[in-house]
Amino acid sequence: MVYEDARCDAERLACAIASGPILPNVTPQEIRDHLRRYDFSGPLALDDVAADVERMLRAWNVQITHPRYLGLFNPSVTPASVLAETLAAMHNPQLASWRTSPAANEIERHTLSWLAAKFGLPSHALASFTSGGSEANLSAVVVALTKAFPEYGEQGVRRLPASPAIYLTSEAHHGFLKIAHMTGIGRRAIRTVATDHQFKMDLGDLSRRVSEDRNQGLAPFMVVGTAGTTGTGAIDPLAGLAEFCRSEDLWFHVDAAWGGAAAVSPRLRGFLAGIEAADSITCDAHKWFSVPMGAGMFFCRHADAAAEAFRVETSFMPRKGDGSTIDPYTTSVQWSRRFIGLKLFLALAHLGESGYAAMIEHQAHMGEVLRESLQSSGWSILNATPLPLVCFAREALDVPSFLAALHERQIAWMSPVRLGDGPLVLRACITSFRTTQTDIKWVVKEMNRLTS
Ligand SMILES: Cc1ncc(COP(=O)(O)O)c(C=O)c1O
Repeated sequence: MVYEDARCDAERLACAIASGPILPNVTPQEIRDHLRRYDFSGPLALDDVAADVERMLRAWNVQITHPRYLGLFNPSVTPASVLAETLAAMHNPQLASWRTSPAANEIERHTLSWLAAKFGLPSHALASFTSGGSEANLSAVVVALTKAFPEYGEQGVRRLPASPAIYLTSEAHHGFLKIAHMTGIGRRAIRTVATDHQFKMDLGDLSRRVSEDRNQGLAPFMVVGTAGTTGTGAIDPLAGLAEFCRSEDLWFHVDAAWGGAAAVSPRLRGFLAGIEAADSITCDAHKWFSVPMGAGMFFCRHADAAAEAFRVETSFMPRKGDGSTIDPYTTSVQWSRRFIGLKLFLALAHLGESGYAAMIEHQAHMGEVLRESLQSSGWSILNATPLPLVCFAREALDVPSFLAALHERQIAWMSPVRLGDGPLVLRACITSFRTTQTDIKWVVKEMNRLTS
């Protein structure tokens, strides 16, 4: 009964958000002034505070679960995943060691194994939930470095025989720059490979750069292919990258933070062909799998390499199992870990694989509707992807002022994006399973009115 109430509450909130504004109109000072009433000098009634927080969240945030939030991979959330967050918080299991939380660890393992199989990874692959895509990508770089340079773990980068280099395109996620900084290999270790006219990695340029860098004394060790780039939704040529990496003995990582969910859809999964050959994969449940933040996933074909990268021994943790179980604190970045995976497990169990596929395919279809509606009213489409992300423009359009007008009138939330060295254009992504054809037609009609 409590669960049914929670589901109805989530649905009611979604309806209320859909009929309200998308963007807030507030200054930092207004919020700070409001918060002055909370000096924590004495207790307050929880109901009152919770109601006030909810009012603040409704009035003073961009409503990313709004059906006309056409934004940055931030999803609407399934009711089952909201319920899972509450359950996880109430029981607060500690997943660092298997012995402490056998049920929670096995639920995560079960969920990750299901998705690993969808990607076509072997059953011995290792996977863990992460805070998000950045932690998963960081895990990939640490494991790849450890495998390529065995001395990295004990001696650090200062003892490496040559400077390590990672290959990706300018369309890959910019978090890799921070990762290069954090891992000590330095931002210059990121080598930018050219893209083709669809913003996909140019395999010829990759091959040229790796060979040139080797001649210059660098040590190439990793290639990152993106399955659904943040700016344009491009999918790098994964099968070609897999073959190249195999022939050059390079670690092949696929950043499928957003696009990885396409693996669940019979209609879309073919676009990820080649991902099954990856050494590691990043996929975020808190993007197209529509669960609340933060829920990333890191998959690694080489369980032994991940175990080597994150190995640690202590006397204070519960003793190890018999080898049939894994203690996540010894195979991944995090130590204390919350029950991240429950929200994906519960949503999958509730909707079923076919329900999930329908949700993902609905969004892909809404992307097609958006593309066609824009095209038929004279907008130019500037990217090509089977995923629901559209980059578009109109001649002589001043993008920043157009977006300001769009936001001020609460028509939709969209972002600007620069394609290559070109001017800013508009970017709209279907991130909500609640976005309908009616929403899209209305948004396009209003945009046409704004530009006429
Ligand atoms: C392709 C890609 N990779 C990685 C990330 C980083 O993921 P997170 O924000 O979950 O850390 C993003 C974020 O949008 C992304 O689009």
